[in-house]
Parts: sequence; C-alpha cells; structure tokens
Amino acid sequence: MEFPKGFMWGAASSAPQMEGSSSLGGKSPNVWDHWFQKEPRVFYQGIGPEETTGFYANYKKDISLMKELGFNSYRTSISWTRLMPDGHTLNDEAVEFYRDVFTRMLDQGIRPVVNLFHFDMPYWLYEKGGWDIRESAEAFALYAETAFKCFGDLVEDWVTFNEPIVPVEMGYLNDKHLPGVFNIRRACQAGFHTLLAHVKAVQAFRKNEHRGRVGIVLNLTPSYPRSENVDDVKAAELADALFNKSFLDPVVKGEYPHVLCEFIRNESIHVNMYPDDLKLIKDNPVDFLGVNYYQPRRVKAGNQDAEHVLDRSFLHYEWPDRKMNPHRGWEIYEKGIYDIAIQIRDEYGNIPWFIAENGMGVEGEDRFRDEAGSIQDEYRIEFFEEHLKWLHKGIREGSNCYGFHVWTYIDNWSWLNEYKNRYGLVEFDLDSGERRKKKSADWFRKLAESNRLPG
Ligand code: BG6
Repeated sequence: MEFPKGFMWGAASSAPQMEGSSSLGGKSPNVWDHWFQKEPRVFYQGIGPEETTGFYANYKKDISLMKELGFNSYRTSISWTRLMPDGHTLNDEAVEFYRDVFTRMLDQGIRPVVNLFHFDMPYWLYEKGGWDIRESAEAFALYAETAFKCFGDLVEDWVTFNEPIVPVEMGYLNDKHLPGVFNIRRACQAGFHTLLAHVKAVQAFRKNEHRGRVGIVLNLTPSYPRSENVDDVKAAELADALFNKSFLDPVVKGEYPHVLCEFIRNESIHVNMYPDDLKLIKDNPVDFLGVNYYQPRRVKAGNQDAEHVLDRSFLHYEWPDRKMNPHRGWEIYEKGIYDIAIQIRDEYGNIPWFIAENGMGVEGEDRFRDEAGSIQDEYRIEFFEEHLKWLHKGIREGSNCYGFHVWTYIDNWSWLNEYKNRYGLVEFDLDSGERRKKKSADWFRKLAESNRLPG
C-alpha cells in the first residue's frame, strides 16, 4: 500500500509535555505549573510538569533520534510563557532555543510543524480570567504574531491550537483542567474566545504575508448513534455539533453549525460577541486541518431527569462488546479514520488535512520486554497498521490527506495520567533519563522510509 509522494511521516508532541525546565530560561508559570505547585496530589503519583523527558536540555539528542526513526516531519509546540513570560516582553533565550530546535530539525530533513497552544494557558492570563475574558483572544493574537515574526523564516507549517475543545470540555464541563467548573454558559463563552483567538492569529498571519500555511489541529470523535431511533440520532448530532463541529465548521466553513445554534438558543445561552466577530470568522478559514483521532463517540438520547443539560441531551454509550484499549478505556475503532477522511472530502471542500495524532496508550509495558530488554509492542504496531489501512482507503477514494503523525515519539508526561499510559515509539526511563527504541520504532522507520505499508 503506497502512500502519496512526499507523504509526511512523523510524530506530534507538545512543549508542556516535553520540555521540562519549567522555571529555567526565563519561563514564567503556565496553569499546569501553578496547579502542580498548589495541588500535587491531583497528579497521578504526584509527578508534575517538571518531570518530562527534558527536551529543553536534550533536544539535540532527541532530534538525532527522530532522524533515526525515519521522521520527515515533527510537530512540537512553542511554550507561550517561555517566549513571552509576561505576555509582552520577548524572551531572547527562548528565541534562541526555538530557533536552534527548528534549524536542527531542518538540517536533519525534518519539517517542523509548529503549534502555538497545547493547553498551556499562561498563569498571569488565567488569573485575569483566562478564556472567560475577551482579552485572552487579543493576548493570544499578539503572541502568535510574535512567533510568526521570530520563526517565520524557518517554519512554514503553523498550527494555532491543538484540540481547542479540550480545555473547554475539561475545564468548563469537568474538573480535569482549570478552572474546573461545570457551567455551560461559561463553556460556550470560553469556546468562543478561543475561536476568536484562532481567527485573529490567522488574520495576523495573512496580513503580514508570512510564507507557508496556517491551520489548526482538532480532535475529531465521530459520533455514532447507538440505534436508528430518532432520539438517539438527534443526540448523536448534538454531540457531534458540540464536540466536533463547534470548531470544525467555523474554522473551515466560516460558520457555526445550525444544530449548535439551535441548542444555544433553546437553552437561552447568551454568548457575548462584537458585531464584526462573525465576519472575522467567515473571512479567515484555515489553509489545512490536522486531525487527532483516537476514538469514536457512541451516543444515546439523554436522561430527561438528569440534573445537567448535557446529560439530558445525550449520553455516551459504552458498548461492552466493542474492541477497547483497556488501559485508557477508549474504544478502538479503526474505520473511524476512514469516516473522517470521507467526511472531509464530501462536506469540507476536501481541504488538505493530515492525521496529527493517533496512538495507543498502554500501562505496564515492562512485561513486554524481550531478553535484550527492548519492549516488543506488537499491539501498537497492529493498532497503527489497522488505522493506516483505513486511511489509505480514504486517500484512494480521493480524500486529500498528506501525512500521518503518531502520538508519540517518546513516552511523555501527560496532563492527568502522567506516565501511566505510555504512547512512545521510544521508551523513556524516568530514573536514568535513558531513551530506548521499542519494536514499533523500527517498524515506523521502515514505513516512513518506504512510504508504504506492506500488504
Ligand atoms: C491528545 C493530546 O488528546 O491525547 C495529548 O493532544 C495527550 O496532549 C494525548 O497526551 C493522549 O492522551 P492521554 O490523556 O492518554 O495522555
């Protein structure tokens, strides 16, 4: 199975999950640094954002290893609070660091895909109100414009946000991210300010005629109704509108989906906006889309007696006999990737897109070591192969997909799982800091170098 010529092969990661050195090099705290200082017990085994793989100190070694893995591209993110610790002043040390990272990647033939925001809201902005306040969009646009200017000669592929729905869902409809409230009105307002931040960054990119492309990375969770019953179908449509199309439609089509508008009206949710905001959204579609695909959403109609509006609207339906990743509790549904490919082709103007994350988090990989000590992660290889087969089918049928990034290059620190579920092609030894290739690393190199999946 041959992939299109020039197909992008690599991995994604993020500054807060990789860099470490949280208080070094002039960086100010983000919400995660702050939260860990305040409540370390919230974090699995008390492991905080300082205990990463240490990319800040080890990037030279890591980039060489990526080359050995056959990567021709890699997504990383810039830390907002490293580049502009107080939101205004440029940190020269950070400029130097990121310039060296991108230059070394280019020297190794690794195309940098650079993301500006991966859940790491500056603490100074959070204290002022974070995504609740409109000022957050202005602050983000200034940061984005600064990054474009500092690195525009090295970077051609810019991503404004990774999974913008996640901080909204996890922070305003859940207590997994800060501010940790359940408030549907605040969620809608925070989502709107995030979208505004994105379009203002896109506008700045175009106004200054930077070279390259600007896009966004969305986690799409195809929503399937549990039955053909009209209530379940409607519930799945609403889940899709809230968690997928609330960003997908405005960033690509320039407008909000009608199901979402109807929901907001029916619930009498008022979202503050300026008269020109919707035009700004309309005028600034993305050049490309990154899609993170892990799992689908199985949906059934909600319970009318439930206290919360979302539980009244729809419920996630656990399907006991589906294939599951028991470690992460996520369903493995490979065909979902094909459904996304076809949906982008048919409903989103066949915009250029790539898989920006796909991966399998596994607990306790120690038990899969061979005699030489290398982790034989056959399950991960199978996971990728099955997804790639469906992706290939989508491409054969005309979907404009130009790359595949795994999550991720090396076992990394994660928001609330820390190192419980490991995703890397490379194992990270937390005690020694050693990096050891797993079996999937070799498999990936062959795939990337040949540009084809055997079979
Ligand atoms: C993606 C995020 O949603 O999933 C990553 O972009 C995250 O930041 C990854 O680490 C895996 O999720 P988790 O919670 O298992 O680490």
